[in-house]
This record gives sequence, structure tokens and C-alpha cells, in this order.
Amino acid sequence: MTKRAFSAFKPTGHLTLGNLLGAIMPAVRLQDEADCVYAVADLHALTVKHDPGRLRARTLEAATLLLACGLDRSLVYVQSRVPAHTELAYLLESTAYFGEMRRMIQFKEKAANQEEVRVSLLTYPALMAADILLHRADLVPVGEDQRQHVELTRDLALRFNRLYGETFTVPEAVHPQAAARVMDLTTPTAKMGKSDGSDAGTIYLLDSPADIRRKIMRAVTDSGTEVRHDPGEKPGVSNLLTLLAVCSGRPVASLAFPSYGALKRETAEAVVETLRPIRERHAELSADPAEPARRLEAGAAAAAERTADLMAAARRAIGVL
Ligand code: AMP
Ligand code: TRP
Repeated sequence: MTKRAFSAFKPTGHLTLGNLLGAIMPAVRLQDEADCVYAVADLHALTVKHDPGRLRARTLEAATLLLACGLDRSLVYVQSRVPAHTELAYLLESTAYFGEMRRMIQFKEKAANQEEVRVSLLTYPALMAADILLHRADLVPVGEDQRQHVELTRDLALRFNRLYGETFTVPEAVHPQAAARVMDLTTPTAKMGKSDGSDAGTIYLLDSPADIRRKIMRAVTDSGTEVRHDPGEKPGVSNLLTLLAVCSGRPVASLAFPSYGALKRETAEAVVETLRPIRERHAELSADPAEPARRLEAGAAAAAERTADLMAAARRAIGVL
């Protein structure tokens, strides 16, 4: 039977090169073998301080970018347009334990650097589990940082099935071979992220070629001069080698450079060429915003329809009328 794949992207900021290599490109490849559904997880963006107008703009931008990246053979929609996500999330909050939620690494990290921690930041993994389980996904293409949340999703699915009868498919995370964790260019020991990274160290999918070149030429490298892949000793250089390898389609082992400067120049060009068609396609799609909007509405309607059975089964199993 054809497998099903699901993944989602939070519109907390502009999508980054980390999103592209860690999750979007693997999601594009899965279109050849699985029945794919991808969402912009706007409800997940409410877990931290946000601006409503900006959230709306970023949600539309992210959805248009997903299409521009090649997710055009998938069902693509915006999470909040399908109310079953929050409905199932509540059933899963009632399956999950406070202790396991509190132990999530992302919750601990994000809660530690804020004064006002929203309750939804704690319950977020139940909503993410609902996203995945609602679609009976077998495969979940995500970067390394989401491994723990997918594990929790599996635990919740198994627990629910044990307590209330077989209802959910137990999913599996799919990580890319390389670039499962793209690092910040200025702090190569931290993840490149739209909200947690630095602007100078983060490449956004819509950055101009000049910005991309500037950011990569200023990337922090390591002491010494030798170009070799060794993430422990040489996190900066290793990150650039990974970017170059993935963007040029060449194995890391085949890459050799006499200097850091030469590595940076070639990496910058490979990233510019990888992002060029995406930026161009995004501009084309944005020229007629009614078209992506129409696709998203059709996507939401189709998602609501194909998840109705699962939602009814979950309701029945847990005992609500
Ligand atoms: P987010 O932007 O946090 O919603 O992440 C969307 C997807 O991109 C998730 O599957 C993440 O694991 C992935 N992702 C985000 N940042 C990176 C990164 N720096 N390297 C690899 N994957 C990433
Ligand atoms: N939590 C994910 C992130 O921060 C985004 C996300 C929401 C997601 N729902 C999902 C990823 C379902 C995979 C499947 O990156």
C-alpha cells in the first residue's frame, strides 16, 4: 500500500536554508513514493509572542514558498483551517502526561529564556502529534531537532491504541542523510533557525544572492587552516562543507580546498544557485496571490474531508459522543 507522509512548518519567521535542507527537500523527494500532505503550522506559531498581522503575512509566504520549493504534487494547506487538528490535540493532551511534556528539550530551552511562558508552549507536542496522527502518516520528514517530538507522537499513538483500541498509525521520522541539522553561520554550535538563530548567521530562502554571498563569506570558521569535515573540532568548516555537498549534489568526501576562502566562495555559489529557482518561482506565484490562496483553500477542504473518518474513530474510541 502507498505510504502516507506528513510534515509541517511553523511560520514564526521567514523559512530558512535549514528548513529547506532538513525537511523541505526530503519532503519533495517523498512525493515520488508516498501520498504527501504538508501544512503551514500557524497554530504552532502562537506558542510564543507574536504579531497577528505578521503571522498572517508569514503564513501566506511560507505556503507559497512550499509550493515554490516543489511541493506541488502534495496536498498543501494551513493548519488552522482544519479544526480537527485542535480537536484531536485535546484528546491527545488527555492521553499525554505532564511529566513527559515538561521534559521535552524544546520546551525546556524555550521556556528558559522567556518570562511569560504560554501554556500552549507546553502542550505544543500534543498538537504536533495530532497533526501527524490525523493523517495516519507513516513517514514524517523532519530535521534532527524534531526527533523527540516524533518519538512522543509514537508513544501517544501506542498508548491511545492500547487504552482505547487500534485507532492510530504509529509514524516514523525521516531525517536527511546530510543536513539534518544545519548550523548557524555565526555560531556554528547552534542550529540555524528563524527565531533562535542570528540574522547574520541565517540564510532565508528569499535572501538576495548578494545577501547570501555576504553571509557565507562572513561565516565563522575555526582555528587552523585545514579544510576537513570534523563537526566536533571544526563545526564552522564542517557546516559549510555540508551545505556545499547538499547544494551541489557532491559527496563531502570528494570536496577538497586549499583555504577557507576558497571553500566559502564555492559554497556561496552553490547556495545561490540552489535558491535561485525557488526565489524565481516564489515571485511568479506571488504575482497572482489569488492562485496560492485558492490552492490552500482547496487543500484545507480536502484535508478536512480525508481526516473526518479518523477523527470520528478517535472520538468514538475515547468515549465522547
Ligand atoms: P520549524 O521552522 O521549526 O517549523 O521547522 C520546520 C522543519 O524544518 C522541521 O522539520 C525542522 O526540523 C526543520 N529544520 C528547522 N531548522 C533546521 C535546521 N537548522 N537544520 C535542519 N532542519 C531544520
Ligand atoms: N513542530 C515542528 C517544528 O517546530 C513543526 C510541526 C508542526 C511539525 N506540526 C508538525 C513537523 C507535524 C512535523 C509534523 O519544526
